[in-house]
Amino acid sequence: MFIRCAIFSACFLVLVGSKVSGSEKSEAKTGNTMAEMKILTRECTVCHGVREAQRGPILNGMDHWYLSDQIHKFRSGIRGARSSNKSEYLMGVGTRKVTTDLQVAFLSNWFANQEPTPALRTIRGDVELGRELYQRRCASCHGVRGEGNRLLLSPSLNKLEGWYFLEQMRKFRSGERGYHLRDEGGKIMAAASKDFSDYDLKNIVAYSVEAFGLPEAQAVPDRTEREK
Ligand code: HEC
Ligand code: HEC
Repeated sequence: MFIRCAIFSACFLVLVGSKVSGSEKSEAKTGNTMAEMKILTRECTVCHGVREAQRGPILNGMDHWYLSDQIHKFRSGIRGARSSNKSEYLMGVGTRKVTTDLQVAFLSNWFANQEPTPALRTIRGDVELGRELYQRRCASCHGVRGEGNRLLLSPSLNKLEGWYFLEQMRKFRSGERGYHLRDEGGKIMAAASKDFSDYDLKNIVAYSVEAFGLPEAQAVPDRTEREK
């Protein structure tokens, strides 16, 4: 029995071995040429594009340092490793194609330099109550106009779509984001969001998007109009 197993696994190894060497073609790809990195951006825009049915947030115009921090976190499993957090997990899978620090730098700059696009106003709330909460509880780190403060690891909030903004606030509050021991920024932000009700959060998001967010997009893009 033992011998039969040993022979079987040896055959199996030979089979696997020959398959790998056959498909490898021994090309040493670095992934660091301009052309290769441009191709990589297309992998990202499958989920981070501005038009198609997306599964991820639009990243255009976000701070390059924040984008870089987050990609590093996804790559190292500080963010995106919990399968219960489905959308983060999806992104964790999304970063497997990123294999070098140079690619991280390229991608961060590329997205930071893309034109921010108008977004739909999806979150309604009491803008006056939101203003009061934002100025008292958020502005010290994120700035009075949501411009961000790199020294405090706090990203700008003025390019966020409402739905994603609200979703992240809920995740920080529930501990689905900002739980990892080495997630410095995430832990700070999680602590800053613990005692808000859903009503508070909607008001804060409605105010932020209204006061310093992206311009409002038309509800239904009219294709026939554009073609004229
Ligand atoms: C399979 C879909 C998918 C792919 C591919 C993907 N992402 Fe993501 N990404 C997501 C989702 C979903 C989120 C939101 C995670 C959450 O809800 O917390 C996200 C979040 C992010 C964030 C965090 C944004 C923020 O405001 O904190 C960055 C940065 C990011 N992605 C960059 C990239 C880059 C760069 C690539 C290409 C290498 C990429 N993503 C590929 C789905 C994807
Ligand atoms: C003590 C400083 C501090 C305060 C106060 C604070 N934040 Fe943050 N916030 C941070 C830091 C640091 C991060 C970066 C988290 C990370 O690296 O994942 C962050 C991240 C965020 C994000 C994630 C952005 C993205 O692209 O995913 C949102 C949204 C946010 N903050 C909104 C708020 C709002 C709204 C308030 C007020 C209710 C607030 N923050 C109060 C420090 C703070």
